[in-house]
Amino acid sequence: MNNKNIKIEVLQTIDSTNNYLKQKALDGEGENYVVLALEQTAGKGTRGRSFSSVKGGVYLSILIKPDLENFNPALITTATAVAVTDSILELFKLDTKIKWVNDVYLNNKKVCGILCESVLDSFNNPQFVIVGIGVNLFKPINDFPSEIKDIATYISEGYSVELFEKFTASVINNFYKYLNSKNHLKLYCERSLILGKEILVSKNNETRTARALEIDNNCRLLVEFENGDKENLSSGDVTVRL
Ligand code: BTN
Repeated sequence: MNNKNIKIEVLQTIDSTNNYLKQKALDGEGENYVVLALEQTAGKGTRGRSFSSVKGGVYLSILIKPDLENFNPALITTATAVAVTDSILELFKLDTKIKWVNDVYLNNKKVCGILCESVLDSFNNPQFVIVGIGVNLFKPINDFPSEIKDIATYISEGYSVELFEKFTASVINNFYKYLNSKNHLKLYCERSLILGKEILVSKNNETRTARALEIDNNCRLLVEFENGDKENLSSGDVTVRL
């Protein structure tokens, strides 16, 4: 259990917990503020995509103050991913995999997505970071929307308030355990879905086949393209598909 003073607000439904918390930050709320929703009507994913947020999932955002000396959003994202995989293992005894950089997979289907957003100050320095975590914890009552039905999965069949609370508490605790350390990187690599595999790398409107070789201490992905060229990829510039 961490000893931080964390404020937690629980909402039935909201457009996006990230948006809600961003407004709170702009209104002067301090760090370590967590917002949890049972449902989102306009859940946001990475790259401007939407994130399906039907009842049964856990949708939470955590407001933190970044460590400006060593600010690297990818380290926060990867720490969060490992925190979620730890919680799934602890509570459900299930092994999950992480797809660089921010998706958690169970049996080759997506079970969690992570979206970190920064609130910048007038000097363009990150004043706050909002870490958004969406986990498909329970089977949705009306199934997933048709567009993600074949690529998304859930962790557990029957809804349980107790498990919902335990899981959420565990994710928050594990998140703070790994935050601002690089202690999660070994587990991040061990649980990688892509290392050693052939992947598709999309960058600047071009998609190329490559082999995922390693992930370094700054969470960059080293890949080798078919012509032998190697490149270190940052999460900002590429998308990766299996
Ligand atoms: C992705 O898979 O592309 C990232 C999904 C992030 C979803 C979470 S749910 C809680 C928080 N609020 C949002 O609107 N998005 C994040």
